Amino acid sequence: MPTGRMPGVRGDVREIPHLRPPVDLLEQPPCPFHANWSAATSSAPDGWSADMEVVILPGPDDCGRVVADILARAVGNGGAGTRPTLGLATGSSPLTAYRELIRRHREEGLSFAGVRTVNLDEYVGLPADHPESYRSVIRRELTAHLDISDDDVHGPDGSASDPLVAAREYEQQLRDGGPVAVQLLGIGANGHIGFNEPGSSLTSLTRVKTLTEQTRRDNARFFDSPDDVPRHVITQGLGTISRAQHLVLTASGAGKAAAVAAAVEGPLTASCPASVLQLHPHATVVVDEAAAAALERADYYRYTLEHKLPHQPF
Ligand code: GLP
Repeated sequence: MPTGRMPGVRGDVREIPHLRPPVDLLEQPPCPFHANWSAATSSAPDGWSADMEVVILPGPDDCGRVVADILARAVGNGGAGTRPTLGLATGSSPLTAYRELIRRHREEGLSFAGVRTVNLDEYVGLPADHPESYRSVIRRELTAHLDISDDDVHGPDGSASDPLVAAREYEQQLRDGGPVAVQLLGIGANGHIGFNEPGSSLTSLTRVKTLTEQTRRDNARFFDSPDDVPRHVITQGLGTISRAQHLVLTASGAGKAAAVAAAVEGPLTASCPASVLQLHPHATVVVDEAAAAALERADYYRYTLEHKLPHQPF
């Protein structure tokens, strides 16, 4: 068995029982997130190398147009014979982008033929055809209005008899499906992305999470009664989400201002799961003025946007 020293600790940690790590870190397989991270330090997964870009726009409709541009570019980039995968999010924040994509499909002929979609998360215990299951929501708000077959719309199975197994199976399905070109994200008022509540490991994979009471209250508006909001969910982990080639987080409204500031300008911490975007080589944060209100560097982000090179895309 290999031995190791902990910084600042004299002697072999394995000889000091109370300092022995609970798992043998030296014998763990390489963490997929760290593999992604170290690959990213040489070149970004989709060929871009950029800092987190913060795009501040007047209102939600403007945000929706920019997010739709990014998703439409990913679809266009797929090319013949390839099947780009788009990562979709629920909640109200992405809705303006979804409406814009539907408009472009109807009025401008934007085609999604061959596109696969993967959902971020799902409630445990709701049947797939429940109107508030995220599978139903994504279908209702987007995919049913596009030329995407239902068979190409994927998500965790929240109605599985064993949600723990369903979570592992979804993680495997995501790995087998290849890279997600663009993963769209909203943000919870407590900084969650997907349903990765504060305290989620920055390297977490798809798993079952227990919702905070705040998130259950925030999401109660979609249910007849607050008691109907499920307590458990299956969510892609922060490590899973980070494997996507491009992360696009969008938020609008004053209620998201503190969470957006913590994610973008606060410390990298499991206490604000969305801060994991700071590690990603290609992350774009598209927010309206109200959601940007607590950003200290807002003027710099506006200045950067104003002086973007003509061929410098999001
Ligand atoms: C839910 C979803 C998240 C989403 C969040 C915010 O909790 N699981 O993916 O980001 O809601 O939703 P909204 O945009 O409605 O505030």
